[in-house]
Amino acid sequence: MEVDRMLGSAIHPHLRYRDESVPKTSCRSMAGPLPASSILAMRSSLSEPQSEKRMFILGMGFVGQFLSYKLQCQGWTVSGTCTSHMKKKKLEDRGFHIYHLDALEPELSILDHMKHYTHLLVSIPPIAGIGDPMLQHERLLRSSLVNGNLRWLCYLSSTSVYGDCGGELVDEDYPPNPTSELAKLRLASEEGWSNLAHYLGISPYIFRLGGIYGPGRSAIETIIKQDPLSEAQKRRKYRKYTSRVHVEDICQAIMAAANSLSLGKVYNIVDEDPAPREQVSEYARKLVENKWPGLITQQAEEIEWSNVTSNKRGEKRVCNARMKEQLGVQLAYPDYTTGLQSILDKMEAPYVQS
Ligand SMILES: NC(=O)c1ccc[n+]([C@@H]2O[C@H](COP(=O)([O-])OP(=O)(O)OC[C@H]3O[C@@H](n4cnc5c(N)ncnc54)[C@H](OP(=O)(O)O)[C@@H]3O)[C@@H](O)[C@H]2O)c1
Repeated sequence: MEVDRMLGSAIHPHLRYRDESVPKTSCRSMAGPLPASSILAMRSSLSEPQSEKRMFILGMGFVGQFLSYKLQCQGWTVSGTCTSHMKKKKLEDRGFHIYHLDALEPELSILDHMKHYTHLLVSIPPIAGIGDPMLQHERLLRSSLVNGNLRWLCYLSSTSVYGDCGGELVDEDYPPNPTSELAKLRLASEEGWSNLAHYLGISPYIFRLGGIYGPGRSAIETIIKQDPLSEAQKRRKYRKYTSRVHVEDICQAIMAAANSLSLGKVYNIVDEDPAPREQVSEYARKLVENKWPGLITQQAEEIEWSNVTSNKRGEKRVCNARMKEQLGVQLAYPDYTTGLQSILDKMEAPYVQS
């Protein structure tokens, strides 16, 4: 898809994605930058209470950008935030309406704009030693948003809040038991955003996401770039189960919730197959070697297999039944094989520039 190509190459300039199927419906992001007059018109229309669907995305990261394209193509008005002026400019050039935001020191004028939106997606993670940066200003948020148009709020959380459950199948009623500092802060963020939503008379959606992958961020790119493993990736090596989800399916779930009349609640957003990390990595390596023989020069990760197998921690298998039954999500990528294959299929060439 066009979205994959634009985002994939935007996030990783060394990778090129095939421009294979430009959507037939036009949408603003495909048409290039908004003219200044349109931005002004949009700003002024945002101050008027209308029934139009308007999404404000706190944190235009990987998920935020994918979602914006999808929503804009469906006629939503979308605005979002990022932390750097350079990224703001890049996103504006691609047709997004962007605010520069440091969540630890938010400008009042941004909070003032937020209240004109009908939907709010929170995609900013907690900060170690601090907690949720936006919720440091909870009183200000409450007073800014209380008389606004907001009627839907979704907080993007993580399955890490469940902690290590000894390999059990974990649904949304399973008591969270976070162990790491960040997972504990994540749970506190869930509570904080839920409290804010309830104060505003909104029933919040809490989406507990598995490891996110998609074009531009997957085991395929890791193999091609031959980067060393990150600390989080190393930790996941020792897990028997690792839940993950393709970014397209996250967007699907968010859009189902945003269009739904049902009350918000906690949802696990994961695919069907919590396969161990090295299995996924091995599969990605084979896919790349088949498509571009000789490209990978690095040896497969050297793992003490006997130790890993005997020491593997159960963690958890995260259940996605509620997402499918109540949001009606039919996963486009039910497991890593379908997800990785589609990412590879859309890649034209592994390197186009040095
Ligand atoms: N990656 C995973 O596998 C995974 C798994 C479960 C849950 N999650 C969580 O799900 C959410 C969406 O994931 P993602 O991969 O889309 O995240 P992402 O790409 O890291 O995007 C995070 C966004 O938050 C913004 N941000 C970070 N710190 C900020 C601050 N102090 N002030 C203002 N903005 C700030 C970033 O700004 P910039 O755009 O300027 O960088 C970015 O737009 C995140 O909360 C993430 O932690 C991720």
